[in-house]
Amino acid sequence: MNINGQHHRAVMWNVAHRCPRWINQRELPFNIQWRESDDPEVVALAIESMEVRGAPSIGAFAALGLALAWRKGEDAFHQYWLPRFRRTRPTAVNLFHACDNMEQAARNHEDMVAVAMAYADAEVQRNQAMGEHLAPRLAVGERRILTHCNAGWLAAVDWGTALSGIYQLQRQGETPKVWVDETRPRLQGARLTAWELLQEGVDCRLQADVAAAWMMACGQVDAIVTGADRIAANGDTANKIGTYALALAAKAHGIPFYIAAPRSTMDAHCPDGRSIPIEQRDEQEVTHAQGLDALGATHTLRIASLGVAANNPAFDVTPYDYITAIVCEDGEWLPER
Ligand code: MRU
Repeated sequence: MNINGQHHRAVMWNVAHRCPRWINQRELPFNIQWRESDDPEVVALAIESMEVRGAPSIGAFAALGLALAWRKGEDAFHQYWLPRFRRTRPTAVNLFHACDNMEQAARNHEDMVAVAMAYADAEVQRNQAMGEHLAPRLAVGERRILTHCNAGWLAAVDWGTALSGIYQLQRQGETPKVWVDETRPRLQGARLTAWELLQEGVDCRLQADVAAAWMMACGQVDAIVTGADRIAANGDTANKIGTYALALAAKAHGIPFYIAAPRSTMDAHCPDGRSIPIEQRDEQEVTHAQGLDALGATHTLRIASLGVAANNPAFDVTPYDYITAIVCEDGEWLPER
């Protein structure tokens, strides 16, 4: 999608430099910083530190990183680099899907760069198709759509998952109005989703996460859509912490609650939500916040009592019964029941 009117992908292979290129999401929206590296360890660290985040972007970026790692030799690739990438983040299954894909390509001695680039391209096509299936479901009421975290092009190479439907709606002249949950503690909504939507000229309003249920009660929300990090075989869905609370409130108010996710987010090996690993992250994400001062310098500030311990589960699981529909690249995805 666009930055200042120019098309970009969140992650890509720089053909001229023969290495991955990515936008550093930790710096957004304050700085637009593009990074490149020909070191697979730098790529793995960029996933761990969330310079690249969001399930489909993580998967595609790991594929590009593994294409680099292939240069280290076949034994190192299998014994060191595949496990190294698989350890970067635990919840988004797209990472493991991409690693499995690259492992298979390595065993077949395929052109690893071509395979990784094709993997990223396929993700983009999936997102675009998903958005086309999603848009008519979001064309309800006054098109006031609530979303959580960032499920746009930053999170999914291009287009996005949940935001793909909103972008398609906008291009159809439907003028959606988006309630953007700020998404504590890392503020992916405030920092990334709001920035993406503004770049695309989508009417949006940022709100504290705790405002969501009240906006539903006030009749101000026509539909809710989020992405997903892993969907179990029975349809239970892991996504950013706070998604489950939204689904509960949506059910109480009779508001449609959609999950948008490509098939690379489905995990047939997880029978239900109880088997999805939930990432527990650093306490400092809860006790501190980061922002920009008037001179443009970024600062990390403590916002909690000194010495207080913090609980920081990064994801929660929404039971399938609370989900109106899971929309993938082929239309509605139905679980095994
Ligand atoms: O911890 P993050 O920022 O990687 O979590 C991302 C999410 O939870 C997104 O909602 C999800 O990956 C959606 S995919 C476009």
